[in-house]
Amino acid sequence: MTTTRTARAIWLTAMLPISGADVPPRMNLLPQPAKVEVREGSFKLTAETSVTAPIELENESRNLSAAIKAATGFEIRVSAETKPGSIRMTLDPKLSNIGPEGYRMEVRADGIEIAAPTAEGVFRGQTTLLDLLSPASDAGALIPCVRIEDQPRFRWRGLMLDCSRTFQSVEYLRATIDRMAAFKMNVLHLHLTDDQGWRIEIRKHPELTKTGAYFSPEFNEPPGRQGFYTQDQMRGIVAYAAARHISVVPEIEMPGHSHEVIVCKPSLSCAGKESGGIFPFFKGPNITEDIYCAGNEDVFRFLEETLDEVIEIFPSAFVHIGGDETPKTAWKSCPKCQARMKLEGIKTEHELQAYFIRRIEKYLAAKGRRLIGWDEILEGGLAPNATVMSWRGTAGGLAAADAGHNVVMSPTSHCYFDYTYGQIDSRKVFSFDPVAGMKPEAASRVLGLQANFWSHIDRDPALVDRQLFPRLMALAERGWSPDNRDAWQDYSRRARAHLTRLEKSGIHYQKSDLPAGP
Ligand code: ACM
Ligand code: ZN
Repeated sequence: MTTTRTARAIWLTAMLPISGADVPPRMNLLPQPAKVEVREGSFKLTAETSVTAPIELENESRNLSAAIKAATGFEIRVSAETKPGSIRMTLDPKLSNIGPEGYRMEVRADGIEIAAPTAEGVFRGQTTLLDLLSPASDAGALIPCVRIEDQPRFRWRGLMLDCSRTFQSVEYLRATIDRMAAFKMNVLHLHLTDDQGWRIEIRKHPELTKTGAYFSPEFNEPPGRQGFYTQDQMRGIVAYAAARHISVVPEIEMPGHSHEVIVCKPSLSCAGKESGGIFPFFKGPNITEDIYCAGNEDVFRFLEETLDEVIEIFPSAFVHIGGDETPKTAWKSCPKCQARMKLEGIKTEHELQAYFIRRIEKYLAAKGRRLIGWDEILEGGLAPNATVMSWRGTAGGLAAADAGHNVVMSPTSHCYFDYTYGQIDSRKVFSFDPVAGMKPEAASRVLGLQANFWSHIDRDPALVDRQLFPRLMALAERGWSPDNRDAWQDYSRRARAHLTRLEKSGIHYQKSDLPAGP
């Protein structure tokens, strides 16, 4: 029996935002679940508590017991049979109506149940459970009695880390995955190639990492800011993320932002000759005109061989091919590019870029993968099944969704976390509506939203942390929770409560971002 008094229960939805007075102080869930019914009493978690789960949830049981140990010091046993006072996790296909990441959780004084149609849903439920846990004493840790039914508003809740301008260590990637999981984010987009360095081992083209992963020696760049991931290291990252139900989407830039490849393989550019070494971002042009030649079959062969290996490492449905900021100057005067245009009946260089992207899309589709690219891939005609990541505002995303394409919104106005807090603070991120101005059909094609962190200005892990936190929490809320943009006060109260947690985890954050008060 529970001690529930349903008359006092409150259902917290977008229509009925929570107010500080209704909620015990420990209820600082972030992101806010779709529905929370607060009840009386609490479950006491002690060293005697056990976790019960079917074998299909072995990863989740292990994960939960490790997280509880880290939070409370208690060694929670995983057991096949349900014991009184246990945390029971079940897979229930009948719950498929709450979606692949949805879950139901009931915390009673005598036990806890998390049920979901998938392991992913159970995992998201665990995250909520950990968020409810009070600080532990020897006597135990308390979890308030609640009934939660939850599912995300958007299925793409992403963070892009630029690993090219500045290499991000394997340890930092792992820490980032943990932090994303804690706030129910589910896509880590790694910008692995750009003018400042190629960061992923490609066995068929070893020069990419032998030469292409390092700045020219005259710049005296510290070793930690350059280098590359071996395929084994990256497989480790992918597995670490998968255990936390996060998909790692690799980005291999084309046809622009490819200076580092041209340095290694000059024959792949229109000019076909040496173009100097690799320079740190502020020591050269922001955008180079050395790009892949669209008239050279060797370029496509190189990219296909590279993508073959990338696909082997990353099981994600999507492969990001960049496509942004491509100056077409070289193409205009290149005999090979011009010959390609003539042969294919292509009239403008924008259409030549569209031809380029379409070819790659077809190649990826034949391998069962979906292409995603920055919104410039709309110019000259979008590849038939491409997904657009809208960064130059949301207009590109709106146009793509109207034309029947899937979209991820990551506009510079709200989602660029290399920008200062003066430009984009948590409140601004919180105010973002990824489907603003869209009719329901177009809105249904918005997969979600993403924060982008470009690593040209802030280059040390503590500074990257500070650029991400605490505003990444606002993005996580916007991606998961029902539209509660009118509940800033409540959000900022919950977010402030999480600052202690950030501090405990050694996360650097922008201290002035979440002032108390209106
Ligand atoms: C971008 O910020 N150039 C996608
Ligand atoms: Zn060319």
